[in-house]
Amino acid sequence: DEAPGRYKVRSLALAEAGRHQIRLAEHEMPGLMALRAEYGDTRPLAGARIAGSLHMTVQTAVLIETLTALGAEVRWASCNIFSTQDEAAAAVVVGPHGTPDDPQGVPVFAWKGETLEEYWDCTEQILVWPGGEGPNLILDDGGDATLLVHLGLQYERVGAVPPNTLPGEPDHTHEMNVVRDVLRRDLEIDPLRWTGIAEQIGGVTEETTTGVHRLYHLAESGELLFPAINVNDSVTKSKFDNKYGIRHSLPDGINRATDVLVGGKVAFVAGYGDVGKGAAEAFRGQGARVIVSEVDPICALQAAMDGFQVARLEDVVGEADFFITTTGNKDVVRVEHMLAMKDKAVVGNIGHFDNEIDMAGLEGVPGVVRTEIKPQVHEWTLPADDDGDRAERSIIVLSEGRLLNLGNATGHPSFVMSNSFANQVIGQLELFADMARPAEERQYARQVYRLPKVLDEKVARLHLDALGVRLTDLSTEQAEYLGVPVEGPYKPEHYRY
Ligand code: NAI
Repeated sequence: DEAPGRYKVRSLALAEAGRHQIRLAEHEMPGLMALRAEYGDTRPLAGARIAGSLHMTVQTAVLIETLTALGAEVRWASCNIFSTQDEAAAAVVVGPHGTPDDPQGVPVFAWKGETLEEYWDCTEQILVWPGGEGPNLILDDGGDATLLVHLGLQYERVGAVPPNTLPGEPDHTHEMNVVRDVLRRDLEIDPLRWTGIAEQIGGVTEETTTGVHRLYHLAESGELLFPAINVNDSVTKSKFDNKYGIRHSLPDGINRATDVLVGGKVAFVAGYGDVGKGAAEAFRGQGARVIVSEVDPICALQAAMDGFQVARLEDVVGEADFFITTTGNKDVVRVEHMLAMKDKAVVGNIGHFDNEIDMAGLEGVPGVVRTEIKPQVHEWTLPADDDGDRAERSIIVLSEGRLLNLGNATGHPSFVMSNSFANQVIGQLELFADMARPAEERQYARQVYRLPKVLDEKVARLHLDALGVRLTDLSTEQAEYLGVPVEGPYKPEHYRY
């Protein structure tokens, strides 16, 4: 269903189903609900116009409705072509008090299974607001909304759409061509569209590791247009969502996609950062033998001490039944690896972008045949070797190499996302409050910031009661002995958790 400029989703008829799920999710998101209780009366986000680009799931619906409860106006798109839960998108458009015939909620432009062209159109829709007034804040996941503003402005300045010029641009040629087409069209409609949009934006809060990398690149090269808050590196984000979220949603994605038994099999996990740690633990929990690969000696040593074999992909490629990439890097599983895998090996990525697995290379293998088993599950049949070394066999690729926990399942569960999204809301509050200050009193410049530890601890605190956790009180004497305030923060900045 579509109302131009107002929403574009699969079907508003799904709204009721979405609303039930949102209601249950609210119960599991105590951090967001506590922020609604704390700020619902004062509405500190009144006047904020937030463009959100983040997987349009049930949990995100609770985030969106928290932002509006705090007074913000919001427009939303997903940050991945496969990650939208259509019923959540519909429920957000209809809103808690509307009906499919009379939608009263938030404009959403997202559905599961967008083309790349549709994806970038949707991203543009959240930045181009009716009436000419644009967003004054971005809430991003992976940095595509932020990237579009930076590219748009840059292209307007030179009056054309030149090839890759910005650090952090996706290096897939096809996708950049899609972005360029959007910008070329914009230049024809209004040669100053992006100048107008960029001028109004006072900051961005960024959800994930990969988006944060892009922001630091932009800040280092002096090209970052507005202040950015790195939500990912709040401890209550990356040490929870990236790890415990993945521990839940990776097996969920694999099970829904394949229903192949994990126990007793061999699972290969590329990368042992936060996401890799959650992935390896999930496979071990299911009884798999896990092999990890790393480039970083510290993470490799951690994996070894956690009891995992650490090896190079090429050395174990014929052994594993599952291959999961978690690196946020490119070209990790390449064609030569896929050609050497076992028959019916399952291959998936859980890092942010789809360049970890060389899908283009796989498509280019002479004689390869792709069979859709069901949406987001494809069997790729690889021909036999000419010299007879290898018989014809196939591998199963999930979500076309895009993040499988959101493509094949519904992403992380609510409770862990409540931590991440409480950081997002606090980040938006910080930036919006700062925008109201006179320029000389602003705390945030065109740099990337993390939230103060006291707010990180606050997010954790908001989730303790729900789990029946009782904190031990620090006595005044103990606090003095440790040199920390009784009420926290309890750790120095350099502490690593
Ligand atoms: P991280 O930086 O903690 O971990 C990545 C690890 O991969 C690092 O230890 C790095 O040394 C390693 N690595 C890099 N290149 C490698 C290679 N060629 N071979 C083996 N290891 C390699 O990052 P984090 O937080 O674990 O995030 C990883 C990716 O997952 C990012 O793209 C992030 O945006 C994404 N992410 C996805 C989520 C999801 O729901 N699917 C949730 C959170 C993050």
